[in-house]
Amino acid sequence: MAVQYRFKEDFWWGAATSGPQSEGRFHKAHRSVFDYWYDTEPEAFFQGVGPNTASNFYNDYKQDIAKMKEIGLNSVRTSIQWTRLMKDFEEGTTDEDGVRFYNAVIDEFLRQGIRPIINLHHFDLPVELYQKYGGWESKKVVDLFVLFAQKCFELFGDRVKDWVTFNEPMVVVEGEYLYQFHYPKLVDGRKACQVLYNLNLASAKAIRAFHESRCAAEGGRIGIVLNLTPAYPRSEDSADRAAAAFAEDFKNNSFLYPAVKGFFPETIVETLRQDGVLWSSTPEELKIIAENTIDFLGVNYYQPFRAKAKEEPFDESHGWLPEKHFDVYEMPGRRMNPYRGWEIYPKAIYDIAINVRDNLGNIPWYISENGMGVEGEEKYRNAQGYIEDDYRIDFFKEHLSWLHKGIEEGSNCFGFHAWTPIDCWSWMNAYKNRYGFIALDLATQEKTIKKSGYWIREVARNHGF
Ligand code: NOJ
Repeated sequence: MAVQYRFKEDFWWGAATSGPQSEGRFHKAHRSVFDYWYDTEPEAFFQGVGPNTASNFYNDYKQDIAKMKEIGLNSVRTSIQWTRLMKDFEEGTTDEDGVRFYNAVIDEFLRQGIRPIINLHHFDLPVELYQKYGGWESKKVVDLFVLFAQKCFELFGDRVKDWVTFNEPMVVVEGEYLYQFHYPKLVDGRKACQVLYNLNLASAKAIRAFHESRCAAEGGRIGIVLNLTPAYPRSEDSADRAAAAFAEDFKNNSFLYPAVKGFFPETIVETLRQDGVLWSSTPEELKIIAENTIDFLGVNYYQPFRAKAKEEPFDESHGWLPEKHFDVYEMPGRRMNPYRGWEIYPKAIYDIAINVRDNLGNIPWYISENGMGVEGEEKYRNAQGYIEDDYRIDFFKEHLSWLHKGIEEGSNCFGFHAWTPIDCWSWMNAYKNRYGFIALDLATQEKTIKKSGYWIREVARNHGF
């Protein structure tokens, strides 16, 4: 294969999944907020399917990791479930089977020559901590998370070199406290802002614990994975630009700035203060945030955000929302994923790369998720028995070519991970949209490599495409 876009030899070619979406609930001692939601309202989930079996990684991890190896992945991110590892969240004791399972998984990744990247939170807060303390609204929960993180560093830090504190913390804020797509499905701007702050604090405190542990001295690194959705204005008009700037600061920079620079965007702090929804913080906490920034950044990129100036004054009778300061702009003619209502705009990856280079100190970073969700993929299965997902290959090629341009122009990007290695369970959508390089047959649990899986193997082998 002639290589037009060449990446460095040690570039990470990989994929990401999470514990709650792949393992299944086998032997799990505790329930997360999502488990609880499913147990109490199964009809809220696509076809009533919950996370009971997921893609059965708990039982199948050896075969699954062998398949990841077969498609050439050199690195994979998954997560340790707080609800599986811990026996008692407050005493800091661990569950024997949880420790055994994660040891076995990490050892298997290493045996297959795949670098494990371990994330500590993937929307899976223990429901007990929500019921008892109000979850991420509470600073007690922040400290219990740090206790869990410390256990993970202690138990697995001899082998795991790359850690992630949170996956997509903004989705916790938006899904749980603003737009009702994650449990507890509240609409409460004030709580949302406190949660936004507390998640930043929890990440900084976990980073501090990591840097004080022997993992850091032994060459380990810790980062965060943020879902960045670059905000573009409807026009160059100053009101549209101000609306997009606020959306950019709220949706992206309110995690990016504390994680990379150690402080919150000033416009956000000022606006939230004026709006009467600013979080409560202490000088000691702000110092912890300032002093404990990330070693590397993971960027999940799926789609951009388009904003316009408000056309009607914001109705605050139902409480504060970030939409007080912008409106969503449904840009005519934007290119959509025909299988899922998300915009496709590959150039945003280049814009992110340049933003990291110019405004974020060119911190080492990687694409920690990118991918195309497709409904009804079985219809693309061919006579040889595998799914011909050329649309996915084209999608990746386009995104990678823009990433390549960003790297050529000096952005410090070290890898690309797709979502996801094997079709897995997705929150409310269950198995509706498939993303994997490897297809999962729900009836038989059989896993077959898709055309994109054979393609990524060639890309990894040739250091490009
Ligand atoms: C982001 C999340 O990290 C993951 O949990 C989710 O399933 C994928 N995107 C696909 O929407």
